[in-house]
Parts: sequence; structure tokens; C-alpha cells
Amino acid sequence: MANYLITGGAGFIGSHLVQALLDRGDQVRVLDNFETGLRKNLEPILDRIDLHEVSLTDADAVLRACEGIDFIFHEGALPSVPRSVKEPRPSHAINIDGTFHLLEGARQSGARRVVYAASSSAYGNQPGFPRVETMAPQPLSPYAVQKLTGELYMQAYHRVYGLETVCLRYFNIFGARQVPDSPYSGVMARFALMMMRGERPTIFGDGEQGRDFTHIDNVVLANLLAVEAPAEKVAGRVFNIACGERHTLNQTYALLATLTGFPHPPLYGPARDGDVRDSLADITAAREALGYAPQVGFEEGLRRTVAWYRDEFAG
Ligand code: UD1
Repeated sequence: MANYLITGGAGFIGSHLVQALLDRGDQVRVLDNFETGLRKNLEPILDRIDLHEVSLTDADAVLRACEGIDFIFHEGALPSVPRSVKEPRPSHAINIDGTFHLLEGARQSGARRVVYAASSSAYGNQPGFPRVETMAPQPLSPYAVQKLTGELYMQAYHRVYGLETVCLRYFNIFGARQVPDSPYSGVMARFALMMMRGERPTIFGDGEQGRDFTHIDNVVLANLLAVEAPAEKVAGRVFNIACGERHTLNQTYALLATLTGFPHPPLYGPARDGDVRDSLADITAAREALGYAPQVGFEEGLRRTVAWYRDEFAG
């Protein structure tokens, strides 16, 4: 039994990881200040976790949260490309300074391994698909720069201090608990809820942009594998975590409309600033080093997600 810290443990991805670790009997500490994380994600398990209700921007509090910890999943962040375009300062503080505080906490407290939530936005709009980890990053937005900076810090802490860091570049994660009703919500959650409420979603651009949409269960699996894989295979490295399939927004809209029984076509608006046009991952490195293979495909993931939003937001 090991001691785990999950930053952002009340959030979409973090809370799924918390549950997975509790299910296998591990000790779990959560760092979250509920700025974007939700209390209701932790309510059923509050008596089983050690909750540190602090911000990643508070270096001393982050250090305290790292004490006595073996493994860290660093999921805490201020997500969203458009949020970072509109207001870069808060996301810079949380995503870059917060990640630095976390690494310092991990180093000073003697943690063994940090698994970091990196982002596919690092690839930007360069030519060449699928995206391979050896491509030079070309971040387009403040968010992409921030998440990439975190990766570089992770790698430096491995090289310089021997901390075992593993960066997982997530490709458009979706599923239960993703917040659907914020202006910065991921597209899948937003569209699913709007359709259920009978509201017509707007596609930004022509809808032919593609994404490698990845169901949350695949991400939980990748994280558990990343923490268990031998250090010589994974420490200091970066891995794409995705399904290895590209789906356009128009296709995604059509499938969601069928699943929700929504009869209307989308509205179309201008493309979003800082948007990546296309995204598709090569997941060979994760397959080889982590033994990762996606367990839940795109359509099955969509079905589960729609069912969850229906239960959660019905009426
Ligand atoms: C990006 C990153 C992803 C990261 C996420 C964090 C890429 C390829 N992906 O996702 O790794 O985890 O940020 O927030 O950079 N859209 C609409 N209508 C809407 C909302 C969105 O058409 O109402 C469009 C967007 O313009 C975009 C696509 O849907 O083309 C996906 O948007 P979103 O779900 O916000 O994710 P990304 O920005 O692709």
C-alpha cells in the first residue's frame, strides 16, 4: 500500500483517479481549492481521503501536501485554451507556478514519482499526422505554453534531481463529471448538455477540425500504468495518451444528436483564437513503455457519457 497525492483531486480527471486508487486500497490525499473542482465529486468519499483545501499557488501549503507521499498525480490546473487566451495571468500562475511548487514539494519531501497531466496542445498546427512525441512542440496558446513548460520542468527535475517524472499528453478527454455548463467546458460535455436541454450548440469554424477524443477510463488506466512502469522505461519521458483516431466536430455532433434525440443541425460561428486545427495521436510509445491500450472506444465512450449526463442533469 502506497501513499498517493492527487492535485486537482476534486476535478474531472483527478476525482476519477482518486476513486480508482481508493478502490484498490491505497491511501489518498487530495489537494484542491475547489476553484474549478467540485465538492460533490468528493462527497461520497470524504471520510476516506485526507483533503488539503489549498491552492497550487501557495508554495508552503503545497510542500505540506507532499509530505509523506510516495507517488503524485499532478492533475490540478486551470484548463481551457480560450480561458488562457482571454485571461492568461491566472492560468499562468496555476499551471506554471503551481507546477513548479509541486515539483519543489515533491523534491523536498522525497516523493518517488510524479505523473503529470500534459496536453496535446503542445503540438500546435505543424504538419505531420499522427503526432509523435519526438516532434518539436509548437504551442499556439498561453495554455499550450503553460502545459509544455510543466513538461520541461518535469524533465529537468528528473535529469537534475533524479525525481521520476512521467508526462502524459492527454488528447481531448471526455466522460462523466466533465463540467458541461461553463463557457470553458470541453466541447463534448457542452454539446451533450445543450442538446439534452433542447438548445442548439454552435460549432466554431467549419466543423471539419478533428480531435482524438479519449474517454476518461483510458486516462485513468494510463495513469495507473505510468505509476507502476519500471523507471528505466518511463522516467523523464513524455507519452501521448489518446485513442489514435481522429473524429471531426461535425461527425461528433451528428453522433451526439442521435444519442440524445436532438433533431436540429448545428449553428456555425467564427473559429476560436488559439484553436488547433487537427489533432491525432500516435500511441505507440505508450503501448510499448506502459503497456497502454485504449479500453473504451469513441462511440462507446459517447454512449456512456450521454447516459451519465442524462442521469445527472435530467429535469
Ligand atoms: C485543448 C487541448 C487538450 C486540452 C484541452 C484543455 C488541443 C488539440 N487539445 O482542447 O489537450 O486538454 O484544451 O482544455 O489543443 N468548440 C466548438 N463549440 C463549442 C466549444 C468548442 O465548436 O461550444 C470547438 C473548439 O473550437 C475546438 C473543439 O471544439 O475546435 C474542441 O474544443 P475544446 O473541447 O475546448 O478542446 P480543445 O481546445 O481542442
